[in-house]
This record gives sequence, structure tokens and C-alpha cells, in this order.
Amino acid sequence: MTTRTARAAAGPNIALIKYWGNRGDPVLRLAASNSISLTLDGLWTEIRVRFDETLQADSLSVNDQTATGPQLARTSAFLDIVRSRAGLQAHAAVDSQTNFPVGAGIASSAAAFAALALAASHAAGLRLTPPELSRLARRGSGSACRSIYGGFVEWIAGPDDETSQAEPLFPPEHWELIDLVALIGEAHKPVGSTEGHALAGTSPLQDARLAHTPQRLAVCRDALRLRDFARLAAVVELDSNMMHAVMLTSSPPLVYWQPATVAVVDLVSTLRRQGVAVCTTIDAGPSVHCLCAAADAEQVSAALSQVDGVLRVLRASPGAGARLLQAQT
Ligand code: DP6
Repeated sequence: MTTRTARAAAGPNIALIKYWGNRGDPVLRLAASNSISLTLDGLWTEIRVRFDETLQADSLSVNDQTATGPQLARTSAFLDIVRSRAGLQAHAAVDSQTNFPVGAGIASSAAAFAALALAASHAAGLRLTPPELSRLARRGSGSACRSIYGGFVEWIAGPDDETSQAEPLFPPEHWELIDLVALIGEAHKPVGSTEGHALAGTSPLQDARLAHTPQRLAVCRDALRLRDFARLAAVVELDSNMMHAVMLTSSPPLVYWQPATVAVVDLVSTLRRQGVAVCTTIDAGPSVHCLCAAADAEQVSAALSQVDGVLRVLRASPGAGARLLQAQT
């Protein structure tokens, strides 16, 4: 056979209403509830996949470094799904390039698996629809199902593997929000999301959080529809705090916050009291995503850079979904 190659790119997304905890078999990544996110522009992952019968094993390179161990195993397991659907035996060489730090609380796995789902399926000869791609990306990383689409996106948790997929809510141009990511370094290796999802059920607060989620989803959809920043800020911060309350009360507890995380949260509430349209949300890491109106972005970014422990501030705006860059079969 000939080699089959494809290249695709995708952006990470920031969850406004979070995915935390699965139902049933964790391998399927069936979220315990719907979630809503914003796909980001300015930050991206580009993946090239080459299936080749002469390869002895799958390989993975991330930013020109060879990856082995669990990272390679996770990629291989994902490629197995693609191979079995395409009836393909060949191993693959996967090359990933990203322009933002991997594993710093920016959903790097979302961008990576959204791009990988598109590149690998295409290289394998499959021509999947966006919903099919979303479901496939979900098998690599839950939040990746949302990065298939651009703009504001909702992941419909669904009852099973065939229905759990994202759908677009509003296109990127609907609302020019800016995400300023206050990058805060890891003092020690954190527990990754996959392990974290498995602990969610050990928190006595998770059931209460999930019972309240439909309300937060409805408020978030409405705030987005009306471009009502005050309403969005309140529900986004409530949702992030509820997820971190679950994390803090899991067994063992998960503490992602660092002193600089708290300092940024503090600064942002002061700015908001002063009339600046800005709010915070934090994923599974110490970095803080500060969502703000485009008009306030420069002022907020300058203030964030002054906080002790903030390494730098990344800027992203609403972006497009996963896209194919080049294919050769
Ligand atoms: C806190 O999608 O990274 O960012 O499926 O194990 O890869 P895996 O988990 P992942 O979890 C995301 C957790 C979060 C919230 C969110 O993005 O919704």
C-alpha cells in the first residue's frame, strides 16, 4: 500500500460550564452532564498523521520531542479506534506542534485530539461528518469533542457513545470576548484530568453540583444569546467554583490552585467592582482564564502581568473549529 498522510489544526477551548466526571465506562468518556465552551483562536495545535505499512510501531513527536509511555499509549489507543473503523492495519507516525504550553491548565488535550481525530480519520480514508468527528474526538479527550466546532459550543452529554457529541451554539463572531490566560507555573506535577474525572464521584458535593447544572447551563446559554456580560460572569465563576469545590472535597483532594491563582482571582474581582467587564474561570491547573470585553483587554492584561507568580499572559479570541490543512492519500 501507499502511505496515507493528512494534516489538521484545532484550537483549545475554555469551558464556561465545566465537564467534570463521567458516567459508566470511563473509556467512553461519557460526561456526567452537558458543558459549554468557547473555542479559542490564537492558540493552536497542528497534527500530521502518516499511516505507513512499513512502520514497526506507532510513534508520537510533540514539539519535536519524541513522546513515549502513557502519552504514546493514549495516542495509540485512539489510533486503534480509527484503524478498526477504517479496516486499516498500518501503524502511524504522529507529529504534533503547538504554540502554547502543554499541561498548564489550557486544554491542550482538547486541541490535540480534535486535530488528531480529523487528521487520522482523513488519512485513514474515512470521511466523517462533524457530529461523527466530535464523537470520535471525545474518545481521545472529552473536551476535544467541543473543539471540532468554532465559537460557543455545547457538549450534549447524551445517554451513550452514539449520541454524546458537541453542537455549535453561536459562531465566533457572535461575541468578541477575549480570554486572557494568566499563566502560572506548576510547582509540582498535578493530577491530570482523566484521573480527576474518576475522583469526582468521591466528593459528597458532586451530586449537588450535577443536580444544579441544568440551571447553570440555561443561564449561560441565555447570557451568551443576549451578550449579557454581568450574567455570564456570575454563572461562569459560580460554575468554576463549584467544580473546584468538588475537586477540593474528593478523596484524595485535588488542589490545583497556587498562591498566584488566588491573587489573580482577587485582582479580577477588584477590577470588576471598579466597573471593568472581566471574570475568571479555572480548569485543572493553576492558570487563570480571564474573560473580558475586547475594549478592556489591554488594561486587564497589563494588570495581570503585574501579579507575582504570573509568568506571562496569553491572549485568545473566539476561534474556528478543527480544520484540515492538507491531505494526501
Ligand atoms: C477542567 O477533557 O481534559 O478542563 O477526557 O480525561 O481528557 P479527559 O478530560 P478533559 O477534561 C476537561 C476538564 C476541564 C473542564 C472542561 O474543559 O470542561
